[in-house]
Amino acid sequence: MFKDRDVISIRDFTRDELIKIFNEAFKMEKNIGKRLDILKDKVLALLFFEPSTRTIFSFQTAMYRLGGETIIFSDVKKTSIAKGETLGDTIRVIDGYSDCIVIRHWIEGAAKYAADIAESPVINAGDGTREHPTQTMIDLYTIWRVKGRIDNLNIGLLGDLKYGRAATSLIYGLLKFNLNKLYLISPAELKIRDEVGDSLEGAGIKYIETNDLTDVLDDIDVLYVTRIQRERFPDPAEYERIKGSYRIDKSVLKYAKDDLIILHPLPRVDEISYEVDETKYAYYFKQASYGIPVRMALLKLVMAGE
Ligand code: NCD
Repeated sequence: MFKDRDVISIRDFTRDELIKIFNEAFKMEKNIGKRLDILKDKVLALLFFEPSTRTIFSFQTAMYRLGGETIIFSDVKKTSIAKGETLGDTIRVIDGYSDCIVIRHWIEGAAKYAADIAESPVINAGDGTREHPTQTMIDLYTIWRVKGRIDNLNIGLLGDLKYGRAATSLIYGLLKFNLNKLYLISPAELKIRDEVGDSLEGAGIKYIETNDLTDVLDDIDVLYVTRIQRERFPDPAEYERIKGSYRIDKSVLKYAKDDLIILHPLPRVDEISYEVDETKYAYYFKQASYGIPVRMALLKLVMAGE
């Protein structure tokens, strides 16, 4: 079921498979700090064509904790791609050096392209604006761990829902569960893309679009905040116009439910004020820490099986 499987889109996973990953991650949490030997002798290749902090280092740490090794690049200028080598040739060669490939690339569909070439499993760590499935596994795991369930919650996504791949993948992931209400809160220019809206409608999910967080915050159990994806704007002037258009601070939180949790895939820019970090609502650093057990679980399932 999991062994040798490519991880390209969160849509390829059933609800039961996601729960299986969560249960495995929960077991991994107990072993954090130890070096296991589940992936002894295995090599994970990390190919990052775009900046990363959490994703690259948590994959690397997860692999280390499982007893495996990593080969890694995060600066394209230091690879033969700078000499004109194609992505396809690079993948073909790295495939021979490793047992699994994690790739982040600015081109939509790059991970799928790599998976079509490589014999080893390929994990999508972000392909342009399109998807970021392992981030969604972490996001859903955090909700599952903190709230004890994913069903029957009112979930709000705030921010750049147009260019943000973490938000897009999370919407697709949430479709696997029985949501109560889905609030999509963004400036009008950054609303979900048509194909995402079509998926929601196809699944019969009712969603509420608004640009006013304070209007709906008192009905939200989980608020997922994202930054405006400046690097993806075709027109820098458009970014300048929209930037700073939303911000969570203590004054906004007076509208919050008592047990609201705030998540964010990070990095944050200015959309969550630092004063929020010390409130009971802030779960984004906890969420980042779950990157290790969740990626350990996934790597184990993909490389060693169940
Ligand atoms: C996200 C990404 O790269 O899409 N970062 C991450 O992996 N945690 C979110 C972002 O960059 O805004």
